[in-house]
Amino acid sequence: MRILTAGVALAALLLAAPLAKAADPIVIKFSHVVAENTPKGQMANKFRDLVDQRLGGKVKVEVFPNSQLYGDNKVLEAMLLGDVHLAAPSLSKFGKYTKKLQIFDLPFLFKDIDAVDRFQKSPAGKSLLKSMERRGLIGLGYLHNGTKQLSASKPLRVPGDAAGLKFRIQASHVLAAQFEAINATPLKKPFSEVFTLLQTKAIDGQENTWSNIYSKKFFEVQEYITESNHGVIDYLIVTSTEFWKSLPSDVRAQIQEAMDEAVAFGNQVALQKAINDKKRIAESGRSKILQLTDAERQEWIKAMRPVWSKFEDEVGKEMIEAAVASNAGS
Ligand code: SIN
Repeated sequence: MRILTAGVALAALLLAAPLAKAADPIVIKFSHVVAENTPKGQMANKFRDLVDQRLGGKVKVEVFPNSQLYGDNKVLEAMLLGDVHLAAPSLSKFGKYTKKLQIFDLPFLFKDIDAVDRFQKSPAGKSLLKSMERRGLIGLGYLHNGTKQLSASKPLRVPGDAAGLKFRIQASHVLAAQFEAINATPLKKPFSEVFTLLQTKAIDGQENTWSNIYSKKFFEVQEYITESNHGVIDYLIVTSTEFWKSLPSDVRAQIQEAMDEAVAFGNQVALQKAINDKKRIAESGRSKILQLTDAERQEWIKAMRPVWSKFEDEVGKEMIEAAVASNAGS
C-alpha cells in the first residue's frame, strides 16, 4: 500500500512539473523606423533596459530599429493583429486612424519645441492620446524629435524657389497641402526609401529634423538645407488597446513608469541631437545650411499658413487655439 501511495505521489509530481515551470515572460515587440542613435532609437533601448532591470523574467522587450520589422505604413495594422506591441510613429502617420493628430503638421503652428511640449502636456494635448481608442489604439505618451528643416538640390530662400520641385512627404494630407501651397509636388513615401530617392534624383527634396537628416545621411545627397523650422516631427508611443488591457494592472503601471522615464531621457537626447547633428552636418561640408532673413521667413509663413483653415474642421478650432496659446509660455 505504501509503495502504491509513493508511486502515485511520484506520478503526480512528474505530471505537475511542467506546470510548475516559471511562466514565459510577456514579450513586447517594439518596432520603429529610425536608427539607434536617434532620440527614438535611444528611448526605445532605454525602455528595454529599464523593463529588464525592473521586470526581468516577467516582461521582455525586443526592439527592432531601422524598419527591420515593419515600416510605418504597416506597423499599425500589424499592431491591431497583435504581431507587434509598441511603436512610435511620427505624429504625421496616423491619418487613417484619426484626423485629430493632424494638428501637429500645421505649418508654423508652434514657435519652438518648448511650445510643442507645453501643448502636449496641456489637457487638450493629453486628450489626443485617446483619440484612436475607438479604433483599437492608445497613446502612452509623446516623444520629441525636433523641428523640421527643408532640404533640396537647389537653394530654397523663398517659397517661389520650391515651385515645380518634388518633395518626399510622410503620409499626411496636411503635409501634401503644405507643399501644394508653394506650388511644389508632394510625394508620400516611406522613410526607408528617402535616401535612395534623393540619391537617384527621383525627388528634389524633403523635410526632416537635424537628427534624421544626419543619421540617415540625407545631407550627403542634398546640397542645401534651409533652416526653416516650419514644422515638427514628434512621436506618439502607441500600443493596441487590447494588448494594453490584457496586461496585469501592476505590470501595466510599471511599464508606463518605465516608458515615462525613457521618454524623459529620449527628450534630452532630442535636444542635444538637434544641436550636435546640425553642427556635424555643417562641419561635413557636404550640405550648405541656409539661414532665412526675417523677411524671407515671413514669405514662407504667408504662403503656408492658409493650410490651417483647410483642416480647421477636422482638427477643431479650439484645439488650434490651445496649440497657439502654448506659444505664449516661457
Ligand atoms: C521618423 O522619425 O520616425 C521618420 C520620419 C519620417 O518619415 O520622415
